[in-house]
Amino acid sequence: MAQSPGPPVDIDLIRTQALSCTRCRLSESRTQVVWAGGNLDSDVLFIGEGPGFHEDRLGEAFVGASGQLLDRLLAEVELDRSSVGIVNVVKCRPPGNRNPLPDEIEACRPYLEAQLDHMRPDVIVTLGNFATQFVIGRPIGITKARGATFGFRGATVVPTFHPAAALRGGSDGGVSRLDAIRHDIGRARAIVDEARRSRSASSTEAEQLGLFS
Ligand code: URA
Repeated sequence: MAQSPGPPVDIDLIRTQALSCTRCRLSESRTQVVWAGGNLDSDVLFIGEGPGFHEDRLGEAFVGASGQLLDRLLAEVELDRSSVGIVNVVKCRPPGNRNPLPDEIEACRPYLEAQLDHMRPDVIVTLGNFATQFVIGRPIGITKARGATFGFRGATVVPTFHPAAALRGGSDGGVSRLDAIRHDIGRARAIVDEARRSRSASSTEAEQLGLFS
């Protein structure tokens, strides 16, 4: 957990509730609820769209082709699944991998809110349109949102393309989507390094002042 704690969130209880959730129609077609992947006690959170075929079967976020690409890009900046949290806007697979519908996103909102409250990450990387719109709170395309960072619940948000967009190929403004994601993950890594440095400097200072006993 990165920032100072607010009211405690019983994340295990909320996860248990989510695992049998029937708040929207996606519960009828899912194999299982995909609560998360990675480490929800990290200071970095990646938010995707919704589980796909493999995630629905295996019960873990980002384990299919997009997840493998994400793993590779994380490794390039010396991160891995055990050092970041990975969640989705909706926790159940939309049939045929269609986009999640607005009422499904709303029905699932309390779970992502609880994950955010529990983690209080320093950095949030939003992967694609749905995660970016969830965080920004208005309809904005990722191509427009990308390149800027902004604050949300005490975290710095780095919007980037969804790995599936990189797998489909293509470029924007002369930069391939893959290189764009690579660049943005590098940026997220630099932001989290800085947050860690400043946390460690403040706790050293507090120790020197004898504030911990
Ligand atoms: N795409 C997503 O957005 N999330 C996953 O978990 C897998 C693919």
